[in-house]
Amino acid sequence: MDGRIINLEARRIDLAGKIELPKLERFGFSQEDVKGLIGQIAEIVNDPERYIDHGGVGTVYEVTDNVCVKVLEPRHESSVAHLMDLGRPVDVEVGIQRSICHVEVAGVRAPWVYGYIKGDGKEVKSTIIMERLDAVNLQHILNGTEQFPEGYDAQVFVDALEEYLDHIHEKFGIVHGDLEPRNVMVDKKTGLPRLIDFGRSHIVSSHNNTQRQSLIDQDNEQFSDIFEKLLGNIEI
Ligand SMILES: Nc1ncnc2c1ncn2[C@@H]1O[C@H](COP(=O)(O)OP(=O)(O)OP(=O)(O)O)[C@@H](O)[C@H]1O
Ligand SMILES: [Mg+2]
Repeated sequence: MDGRIINLEARRIDLAGKIELPKLERFGFSQEDVKGLIGQIAEIVNDPERYIDHGGVGTVYEVTDNVCVKVLEPRHESSVAHLMDLGRPVDVEVGIQRSICHVEVAGVRAPWVYGYIKGDGKEVKSTIIMERLDAVNLQHILNGTEQFPEGYDAQVFVDALEEYLDHIHEKFGIVHGDLEPRNVMVDKKTGLPRLIDFGRSHIVSSHNNTQRQSLIDQDNEQFSDIFEKLLGNIEI
C-alpha cells in the first residue's frame, strides 16, 4: 500500500514510514489533530481494497501496512440506543486500549492506538486509528477460512494468553469483557496471541471486590472456552 503524508494540522506524520513504537505520547493526538484525517478516511472506506474485516459494530480498513482505522457505526446517537448492546463510547474504548497497548507480556500486546475521531452521529463516524496487526483472526481459523501461521503452538499460545490476561487484570485492573475468538488474533510472525477490540472492556480498579472478581471471572471463563477449543482434543 503506498503511503502518503497526512497533514494533522500542526504535525505532519508519514504514515507510510515505520512508526516508532515506544513513544506513545508522540502519537497521542488530540481530537483536534485527528480531524485532519476525516477527509482521507472517507476516501479509505470507499476503497474496497482497503477493507480488512468487520465485527458487529466496527469495520476495519487498511491505511498503510502498519496502520488501520476502525470505523464504528453510530449507536449511542441512535433513537433505539436504549434497545441495543452499545459497548463503550469510542473515547472509553480508546482510553482503555491506550492504557495497556504499551504492555507486553509473554510476547502478547494490544495494538498501539494513534488517535481517534469522536463521531457526530451523522456524517462523521467515530473512528479509531491504530496499529494494523499482521495477524490472522482466531475465529476465521476456527471457521476453517484461514490457517494457523507457521510457528503456532497451541500450548505456548494459550499459556501466553493466560499470562497476559492475568497481568492486565492484576496490574492494570483491566478486564477485556468480550474475549471471544473473533477478538483474538494470531500473530503471523510469532504465532502468539494479539488481543483486540476493547469495545466492551472495563476498568475494574474502582469496583468493589465482588464486582471486580465477577468481571475477571467472566474473562477467565471465556479464556477457558478458547483453551478448550484449541487444546480440548489434545491430551496433556
Ligand atoms: N488492529 C487490527 N489489525 C488488523 N485487523 C484488525 C485490527 N483490529 C480489528 N481487526 C479485524 O477487524 C475485525 C473487527 O474489529 P473489532 O473486533 O474491533 O470490531 P467490533 O465490531 O468491535 O467487533 P465485535 O463484533 O466483537 O464487537 C476483527 O475481528 C479483526 O479481524
Ligand atoms: Mg470484535
